[in-house]
Amino acid sequence: TTADIADAGLRKLLLSRIRDVPDYPQPGVVFKDITPLLADHAAFSALIDALAALCVRHEADKVVGLEARGFILAAPAAAKAGLGFVPVRKAGKLPGATLRQAYELEYGTAEIEVHADAFQPGDRVLVIDDVLATGGTAEASMALIERAGARVAGLAVLMELGFLSGRDRLAPALAGAPLDALVTV
Ligand code: PRP
Ligand code: MG
Repeated sequence: TTADIADAGLRKLLLSRIRDVPDYPQPGVVFKDITPLLADHAAFSALIDALAALCVRHEADKVVGLEARGFILAAPAAAKAGLGFVPVRKAGKLPGATLRQAYELEYGTAEIEVHADAFQPGDRVLVIDDVLATGGTAEASMALIERAGARVAGLAVLMELGFLSGRDRLAPALAGAPLDALVTV
């Protein structure tokens, strides 16, 4: 649960640095902008510490970040936890042999990729992203990790948009692995 991984003070600090931008990227949508949080050393370092602690708690062997905003959080958390970082990228960006997975967007579809040799067989992988919305991006990334011969140790996000029910959608893919959100809105 949220309370378990982030105390009230941390949640308050993080929430105070996430800015609501109305009508972006389209009318009626309130965009959650994390750039004020990233620009504040106290908030950003507390966030990275909390994510690194989850890497340790869930006994991860590798940390995956989801392009693009997930990279900003996952790479420093991996380094702090003493683990390697693996990028899951939007299709066409990785130079080696890749596995590719399609997922649905609000309009149309997108594709993400990971290097086919990114993991050792059976590696426990913690996936980190900034936001869990519908869960489509995270679901596709977990499919890639399994296809690459590794196991999902958990999914950790800064922010869960609870009203979109991504958590319910991800339950089958998580197969009992933990989903940790530092804040839920
Ligand atoms: C956003 C966000 C998550 C994803 C969540 O990424 O950073 O990765 O959407 O949405 P979902 O749960 O409905 O899949 P986006 O693809 O907008 O791009 P970015 O990270 O490259 O900015
Ligand atoms: Mg993203």
